Amino acid sequence: MKILVIGSGAREHAIVRALDRSTQDKKIYCLASNMNPGIAEACDEILVCNINDSDFVSNYAKEAGINLAIVGPENPLANGVADVLWKTGVKVVGPKKDLARIETSKAFTRDLLAEYKIPGGPTYHTFNSIEGVADFLDGLGENYVVKYDGLAGGKGVKVAGDHLHSHNEALDYCKELVEKGGEFVIEEKFMGQEFSLMSFCDGDHLKHMPAVQDHKRAYEGDAGPNTGGMGTYSDANHGLPFLTDSDIVQAHEINAATAKALKNKFGEGYKGILYGGFMATSNGVKLIEYNARFGDPEAMNVLPLLDSDFIEICKGITGGTLDKVDVCFKNKATVCKYAVPEGYPVAPVKGEPIDVSKIENPDGLFYASVEIKDGQLVESGSRTVAVIGIADSISEAEKIAEKEISAVKGPLFHRTDIGTNELVQKRIDHMNSIRN
Ligand code: AMP
Ligand code: GLY
Repeated sequence: MKILVIGSGAREHAIVRALDRSTQDKKIYCLASNMNPGIAEACDEILVCNINDSDFVSNYAKEAGINLAIVGPENPLANGVADVLWKTGVKVVGPKKDLARIETSKAFTRDLLAEYKIPGGPTYHTFNSIEGVADFLDGLGENYVVKYDGLAGGKGVKVAGDHLHSHNEALDYCKELVEKGGEFVIEEKFMGQEFSLMSFCDGDHLKHMPAVQDHKRAYEGDAGPNTGGMGTYSDANHGLPFLTDSDIVQAHEINAATAKALKNKFGEGYKGILYGGFMATSNGVKLIEYNARFGDPEAMNVLPLLDSDFIEICKGITGGTLDKVDVCFKNKATVCKYAVPEGYPVAPVKGEPIDVSKIENPDGLFYASVEIKDGQLVESGSRTVAVIGIADSISEAEKIAEKEISAVKGPLFHRTDIGTNELVQKRIDHMNSIRN
C-alpha cells in the first residue's frame, strides 16, 4: 500500500507516525511545504512543493502509484486537491471542495445548521454590505462576534470585549470587510469553555476521538494575540475535567447530525476528519466552528493514544466501512506544548538555530516550522516544535511536557501554564460559576 501525506507540520508528523506504527505492508510519501526532518526520517520519500497545486499533487500521486492520500491542512482541501485525487483513482481522507465548505465558509456552516435544525447554532446574520448591520448589532447588545466569511488563519474573527469594544469599532471592522469585497457573519457571542471534538467520518458512520482543549492566545493566562494554538490537553477518560458526560454526548450528536446533513445536501458523504470547535455554556453545547481536518495541536494529543491500526481507519473512512473498524484510544491523559519563535505571532524571529538534542523522549517530539540550513536545524518563523507528555493524569502529563519543551534551546518561548493544575482548576471553576 502506498500512502501519501499532504502537509509537513507537527500535525502531519503525528499522522506519519500513526501510519508508521501500522504493521501493514506500506510505503509512506509526503508532499511538503518545508523539509520537516521528522517526517523525512519516517517516510520513504518527501518532496517540497506547492501542496495547493491540485494538478501537481495528482500527477505526483499518479506517477508514484499512490493508493491512499491523507490531507493535513485546510488549504489543499479548499483548492480541491481531494476532488482531483479521487478522479485519478486515489482514495482520500479529507473532504472534497464542496464539503470542505464546512470549514472554508462560516455562512455555509451556520446556514447548514439552521436548515437541518441542528442544535448549537447562534442567532446570526450574513451581510455583504453595511446595510442593517447597526440594527442587528443593537439586537445582540454587547454579545456579538464578527466573522469574515473565508479562510483567514483565525485572524478574520473579532469578538466583542476581546477585539471590539463598541458598536462603532464593530461597524468600522465591518466597513473594512465590505471594502475588501467580502461577506461576513455577525453572530451571538457564547460564554463558556471551548473544546475540540474530532470524529473520523466515512460519509455515514462516525467514530469519535477524545475531547481536547486548545489554547489560542500566545501568552500565559490567555493573554496576547491569537495563534494557531500554543498547546492542548486531554484527559484519561476522553472527556475534560470541566465537561459533563452530557456535554460530550451533545458534541457527538452535533457532529453526527452535521455529517448526515452534508450527505443529504450533496448526495455524497463527508470522508475525513470532522473537527467540531465547541463551547460548553450554561445552556448546553454550542458550535463555534467546524474544521475539515485534524486540529493542530489536537492531532498530537489523540493520534499517539490510538491503539487501533490507523491505516485500517483510513480504509474505513474512504471505503464507507468505518462502522466495522475498531477505533480504540488508550485511557491516558496528554499535554502538548509548542515552542514558538520569540516575537511570534506578530514579529517572529526567523532562521535562528535551535537545539533539540536534550529531549529525553524523541518519540514525543514533533517538528513543525523548521528547516535544515547548512546542516543546522533552524526555526522558520511559525510554531516550531511540539512535545507531548502522556501519563495517567493531566498533571503528570504536564510535568513531562514542560520538562521536554524547556529542554529545547534557541530564541523560543512556550506557555508554562497549559495543563497545570492551576489552569485546569480555573476552567472547572469558570464552568461551575456559569452552570449555577
Ligand atoms: P473561529 O475561527 O470561528 O474558530 O473563531 C476563532 C475564535 O473566536 C474561537 O476559537 C472563539 O474563541 C472565538 N469565537 C468564534 N465564534 C464565537 C462565538 N459565537 N462566541 C464566542 N466566541 C467565539
Ligand atoms: N487547534 C486549532 C486548529 O487546528 O485550527
